[in-house]
Amino acid sequence: MYDRGKVIAGLVIFSIIFLFPFLYNHGSASPQPKPSLDTPAIKALSQKKCVEDKQFMITTHMQFLNDWRDQALRDGNRWYVNKEGKKVWISLQNTCLKCHSNKKEFCDKCHNYAAVDPYCWDCHYDPNGSKL
Ligand code: HEC
Ligand code: HEC
Ligand code: HEC
Repeated sequence: MYDRGKVIAGLVIFSIIFLFPFLYNHGSASPQPKPSLDTPAIKALSQKKCVEDKQFMITTHMQFLNDWRDQALRDGNRWYVNKEGKKVWISLQNTCLKCHSNKKEFCDKCHNYAAVDPYCWDCHYDPNGSKL
């Protein structure tokens, strides 16, 4: 489903985006952020794993979330089967944000650094009650 070419293209785009502020500031940019994994749901996991492997999530989560949305809304399919054959409920709020309930210390940390501001939060809400 995700071919090698796309993954490599993703990696290249990702590194450019991450390196850009650094190069642009002639090396004075703040160090690359460390998104925090310190949440109750992640602490409770016996295996500290995301929906797919870490490298894939870092480089491909943007496209991945689009695919999830299309599957859920266009195809009415709310179950995603990951590469290990595990079934995962398709939901931005109730799956991603359940584990990553610290949006500010996780999603935002990278996004602020990379200067991206996903428009998703115009509609989607933080399960903790505040608008994302
Ligand atoms: C079952 C809990 C769980 C769910 C659900 C989950 N994650 Fe994760 N996520 C993790 C853990 C644990 C890691 C760290 C993985 C590692 O270090 O190998 C992680 C890592 C990541 C990373 C890489 C962070 C880094 O350190 O650079 C991204 C990006 C990410 N997740 C996004 C998402 C998105 C988007 C979703 C929903 C599609 C999602 N996650 C759903 C637990 C989860
Ligand atoms: C390891 C750093 C990192 C983490 C953690 C991370 N993101 Fe991202 N995200 C990025 C980068 C970099 C981009 C910009 C990539 C691009 O534009 O191709 C991005 C882009 C996106 C986009 C597409 C935005 C657009 O305008 O195209 C969405 C949606 C998104 N992230 C959702 C999430 C969510 C939800 C989480 C938390 C669960 C999350 N991200 C966590 C680094 C991260
Ligand atoms: C204009 C409002 C709006 C915006 C902006 C928006 N969404 Fe959604 N999204 C919805 C609605 C409404 C649903 C359907 C909810 C349902 O059926 O439970 C949905 C469903 C989804 C789903 C599948 C079901 C779920 O509960 O998560 C995903 C994944 C998703 N959106 C991701 C995104 C991402 C990623 C972005 C930003 C790149 C985004 N959405 C931006 C309104 C929006």
